Amino acid sequence: MYTLGIWDGHDAGVAVLEDDKIVFAINEERLTKRKLEVGYPVNSISFALSYLHLKPTDFDNVAASTSDSGKTMSRYIPQLAKNYYMFRRRKVDRPRFEDLRRYSKYATTEGAPNPVSVLLTKQYYRQKLEKAGFKDYKLSIVDHHAAHAATAAYPSGLKKQLVVTMDGVGDGLSGTISIFNGKERELLSRIPARDSLGLFYEQATNLMGMRELEDEGKVMALSNYATPVPDEKNKLLPFFSVDGMKVISRYNTIDRYNMLKKVMWGTEREEFAYMVQATLEKHLKELVQNSIDETGVKNVSMAGGVFSNVKANMHVKEMSKSWFVFPHMGDGGLAMGSAMQANYTEKGIARYKLEDVYLGPEYSENEIQAALKKSRLGYEKIEDPSSYAGDLISSDRIGFWYQGRMEYGPRALGNRSIITSATNKDARYKLNMCIKNRSWFQPFCPSLLAEESERFFEDAAQTNRFMTMGYRIRQEYKDIIVAVKNVDDTARPQMLESENPRYRMLIKKVKDNTGLGIILNTSFNMHGSPLVNTPEEAVQTYNSAKPDFMIIGDYLVEKK
Ligand SMILES: [Fe+2]
Repeated sequence: MYTLGIWDGHDAGVAVLEDDKIVFAINEERLTKRKLEVGYPVNSISFALSYLHLKPTDFDNVAASTSDSGKTMSRYIPQLAKNYYMFRRRKVDRPRFEDLRRYSKYATTEGAPNPVSVLLTKQYYRQKLEKAGFKDYKLSIVDHHAAHAATAAYPSGLKKQLVVTMDGVGDGLSGTISIFNGKERELLSRIPARDSLGLFYEQATNLMGMRELEDEGKVMALSNYATPVPDEKNKLLPFFSVDGMKVISRYNTIDRYNMLKKVMWGTEREEFAYMVQATLEKHLKELVQNSIDETGVKNVSMAGGVFSNVKANMHVKEMSKSWFVFPHMGDGGLAMGSAMQANYTEKGIARYKLEDVYLGPEYSENEIQAALKKSRLGYEKIEDPSSYAGDLISSDRIGFWYQGRMEYGPRALGNRSIITSATNKDARYKLNMCIKNRSWFQPFCPSLLAEESERFFEDAAQTNRFMTMGYRIRQEYKDIIVAVKNVDDTARPQMLESENPRYRMLIKKVKDNTGLGIILNTSFNMHGSPLVNTPEEAVQTYNSAKPDFMIIGDYLVEKK
């Protein structure tokens, strides 16, 4: 029997577990093509069932998460979430009472669940599921941070571990700290929504003219371009303090937003980004260090949107013995978290092997051929796609690489990737300006053979398959792998082991050609669009971006 996890908020989606196996996961954005889609993931549910040839009656457990009153209200009035989505993404004109709208969002989302909101959430799910044909299943409504914690703890492979969750807000909280000993999770600290470092970062992102819940990575990237601001001059640092395993915000959420505005008024953009990033790093570092000191547990697992910040994560890497960041750390991972937590409560399952994140759909050779035929592009079948691509990118060509099952989570890890050489000096400009239409200051990341990790990076004793951690580039490679380094000489690498043989062969070919087992890898999509899913989307993206080549399955399309 199977467990279905559903998440119907920001970056909605589903996950399917068959006991202790993760069999499928997808987010609604990949099907509707609206980035970070919100609302009940009707497409993902029906897609998952048909892809896996399952009937609703094959599920004995269904799990969802978050039942605070704000979320519950948006379930009964879905237009609220849909309107906010358009407002948040700046797809509508600036409303007259913009701040008021924001304040009312803060006011409605910060409350904890109550018996009525829980009851209404259950009723909502029962109606939806029964209409879709689900019968004789156990419905679990999992706490928001318990779902994040489940994704941090259960697939981490760590024994006794400190589990840290941190995000904007969910079910009245912005973070939790607990200990998981392999069997039970003991909650040690709950950080209220009011004291949210995640929400602080979102507010700053928004004030900088970017989209909160989406562009926080840009703020982090921009912060590297500032002249460092000393702590005593960082006016944002006193916004928070840390006391033991608690974070305390000096202001409530609305006042903090206004105070941020005030500081921003007299501050350069890059400097402001630096101050925001430094504030997060300093307080998170102190919080985790205190937790390690108080508990004596040095293995740390993490989930929640704040841990998409790889620069902050680096501090945890430096202070822990072993660490794990769930690859789909934001709310997009909550369907998986709910399913895992329900499996834990109902079936006692507390371990998952997460070898890779190729958990989405795969398309057949016939489907690939049909898409190519329809496109009228010239194409040919090739013998050895990995070697062919390896040769092309060794001479700095830029290409699309489409293979196998689509990645789950925010990172493309070699099945829906745009690739080129890590030494390609023009790559960043060409990719940002001509192909992906991103901001000039956004860096690109490398994929490398895991066995080469210590060659290129300092402090790489623990490798990372999922691009969830920052590493410092060794001095001798700083001027060589220029296309994949951040301006502060760090990178966010994918260290590839045996989980993707075709992609590994490609990088090996590059190593044969150049001596360097490392390439540039960025997600196969245009900026602001979700990752490419189907072969048709790959072809469409090829037509609009016009890279040097595309290899899709065994087929090559090449610009002459
Ligand atoms: Fe969350």
